[in-house]
Amino acid sequence: TGAMKIGVAGLGTVGGGLCRLIETNGSLLAQRCGRSLLVSAVSARDRRKDRGLSLEGARWYEDPVSLAKDPELDVVVELIGGSEGVAYEVVATALSAGKHVVTANKALIAHHGTALARIAEEKGVTLAYEGAVAGGIPAIKTLREGLAGNRVTRVQGILNGTCNYILTTMRETGREFGEVLDEAQKLGYAEADPSFDVDGVDAAHKLAIITALAFGCEVDFDAIQVEGIRRVSAIDIAYAEELGFRIKLLGIAQRRNGAIEQRVHPCMVPKSAPIASVEGVFNAVHAEGDFVGRIMIEGAGAGERPTASAVAADLLDIARGAQLPTFGISATALESLPTLPMAEH
Ligand code: NDP
Ligand code: HSE
Repeated sequence: TGAMKIGVAGLGTVGGGLCRLIETNGSLLAQRCGRSLLVSAVSARDRRKDRGLSLEGARWYEDPVSLAKDPELDVVVELIGGSEGVAYEVVATALSAGKHVVTANKALIAHHGTALARIAEEKGVTLAYEGAVAGGIPAIKTLREGLAGNRVTRVQGILNGTCNYILTTMRETGREFGEVLDEAQKLGYAEADPSFDVDGVDAAHKLAIITALAFGCEVDFDAIQVEGIRRVSAIDIAYAEELGFRIKLLGIAQRRNGAIEQRVHPCMVPKSAPIASVEGVFNAVHAEGDFVGRIMIEGAGAGERPTASAVAADLLDIARGAQLPTFGISATALESLPTLPMAEH
């Protein structure tokens, strides 16, 4: 097989990081999958922006939806963002044209994952989204492949790097929320609209995805009870510290009374709990399975390099010919299962 031809739609924090990763580690990737990964086409809003990327020989598209139709591409990587509009169009167009798609767009997967998975299945292509949950941590692979032999009873985690960075920095410096949020934005951690981070919506997008993987149900974002960190003050954090607790924004999904309960809100966690020492931009995902017991994975949950690392892992899977059902179970099989009720909130 020849080079795998990739179109990258979106050259911001993550798209730029992915192109740099392929430039830096290209020969290593080729050794690992037996073919080279070639960025053949790119798209962003501003062609004149200096991105510090060579992008030698890559075709430029003003319109990312036209990139998604490029017949020479094997894979389209969507790194634009947003659950509707252009990102949706790019992904749906590429899948419908029989191309594999990789995205880090959790908003898109949380709102349209089931429908997009169905298109991927009909076309016999892969829709992969490792970068969408917990940045560089292989959370999707862990739940979909690593724990595939288990009945999962609970998943919980720190799922937003921006919020964890803000809460950690507020505790360490006593500074207030707004000032620290500016810093997280400059570091490339925050969403284009940072209210998605601080209001808990981004963590809820991710929780909806991991709930579907962990419990074998459809993604159901609307079932999540969501509260963010805007009302947490430096004083709250200092008092919690004095009492032996850290404040963390957690996403929790568990079976309760025959239903799945999903919620995102700030929690007081004892300083001795492993999750309390997950600090700064780090995220953690903790799961309980009936055979594996408890596991926890931890690492950078946002930022250029960690997220590019996750996107590259998906590209390698595709280059190796792996065909993994989007949510660990085929869309057709999922439809035939009894619906798991979601708890009211
Ligand atoms: P950025 O805002 O840094 O980059 C977005 C890119 O999309 C830019 O290159 C922009 O062009 C391009 N773009 C925007 N609108 C259009 C359009 N209409 N047509 C063509 N190109 C367009 O976002 P991020 O890289 O931070 O995020 C990308 C995705 O990855 C999002 O879904 C986000 O949720 C997700 N993600 C982000 C992480 C992070 O740490 N930042 C971590 C994990 C996931 P231009 O550069 O010209 O403005
Ligand atoms: N804005 C997100 C965060 C990016 O801070 O966690 C990673 O998904």
